[in-house]
Amino acid sequence: MNVCVIGTGYVGLVTGACLAEIGHQVVCMDDDARKIEILLSGGMPIYEPHLEGMVKRSRAAGRLHFTTDVGEAVREATVIFICVNTPPLPDGEADLTYVELATRRIAEHATHSPLITEKSTVPVQTGAWIEKTLAIYGNRPGVEFDVASNPEFTREGMAVEDFLHPDRIVVGVSTARAEQILRELYAPIVAGRFRCPIHADCRQDRAVPFLVTDLRSAELIKHASNSFLAMKISFANALADVCELAGGDILQVAEGVGLDKRIGRAFLNAGIGFGGSCFPKDLKAFVKIAERSGHDFALLREVDRINERRREMVLEKLKRALWILRGKRIGLLGLAFKPNTDDVRQAPALAIARRLLEEGAEVRGYDPQAASKARQVIPTLTICADPYEVVAQAEAVILCTEWAEFLALDWPRMKGQMVRPLILDGRNALDREKLISFGFEYIGIGR
Ligand code: UGA
Repeated sequence: MNVCVIGTGYVGLVTGACLAEIGHQVVCMDDDARKIEILLSGGMPIYEPHLEGMVKRSRAAGRLHFTTDVGEAVREATVIFICVNTPPLPDGEADLTYVELATRRIAEHATHSPLITEKSTVPVQTGAWIEKTLAIYGNRPGVEFDVASNPEFTREGMAVEDFLHPDRIVVGVSTARAEQILRELYAPIVAGRFRCPIHADCRQDRAVPFLVTDLRSAELIKHASNSFLAMKISFANALADVCELAGGDILQVAEGVGLDKRIGRAFLNAGIGFGGSCFPKDLKAFVKIAERSGHDFALLREVDRINERRREMVLEKLKRALWILRGKRIGLLGLAFKPNTDDVRQAPALAIARRLLEEGAEVRGYDPQAASKARQVIPTLTICADPYEVVAQAEAVILCTEWAEFLALDWPRMKGQMVRPLILDGRNALDREKLISFGFEYIGIGR
């Protein structure tokens, strides 16, 4: 099938590369000439496991193309994915300028009758606006448009795995033709009929659920899913605070609660809070969407508030241990918003770094992938070449992102570098007993 992807950020690039991987002909388009230049010269504008190899293979096989020319990208397409960014406006609402622009350009350039599919996270009723926009600007004889919503549920760092082995595929459609096109497009994934680029011995034991809904419900499913996951995290964080006050251990409590199949253990990890380009933004946007529809989603406002308070909680813990922060050297292990990505958007680590700098501390950080992006965001943050340099002459070290390499550090060597061997494990990821046996003062979250 001829596929066009407009916008080659995280979502667009993963969508394009995965659809090419399962055999479709894909053209990815972006206005950012520099990004397209990088891709055309064999580079990667982002770090995402498996993506680079897949892009190389599909380009070599002639199934994946990159361009800045929207006309060229749109012309032959049977299905067009809108994957442009929807940044937050100051009040939290999503800015849909790029979605409208992409729609108008499609309306202008389409020659066949393509299916326009939203993949960017958009508020409910965006599909209806896309339909109206296409009717106004693409009103030509012989060209008809269908509109669908096909939310993505991919996690950064796991995006290829999540795309090719999803829990479910959701398509919101208003015509039988739209449903038919998307069924055909995803058939190899639903049936597990493709050569998996991740697991050599990949065997899918069940068909992937393919849920067909109306347009608005599909749009709501995306925001509802992210908000629910964010709610689980904030619940765990609030529970961690209770554990500290009442004398319990959040790890044990989360395990006991999570063993209930109706609840599940996933996303109950307490720590310094959630970040990234999705949860904080989508949560605020969903509160706004509800508000516009006349509902005060107070529950989600509280989820957001609990999350915002996590950074201050870290500062309070440090102050309790160190008394004065001014002039003290504090090390940060991990700057990305989570492991296996170079993304620092809304990263709790950077919010903590900023607060520590405001307090007059000297902050040094290390991250296996996100260092240069972090430096761009906070130029006063000293970036180190390795974790041992981070803790040299430090009074405390905070684990902000649980990269696997931090779990396997030579901790006695780390301790030897520090003025005071104090560790704040912001993700409850380290072996507390072992660190204490090495002579560290260990501070966890909710323990
Ligand atoms: C999230 C969703 O998980 C995806 O399903 C969704 O497709 C995506 O947003 C999106 O809307 O595009 P992502 O932002 O990549 O994916 O990252 P997550 O793995 O969900 O983690 C988000 C944040 O929550 C991270 O900062 C992580 O450290 C934090 N987290 C996660 C916790 O603090 N505790 C947990 O138990 C789990």
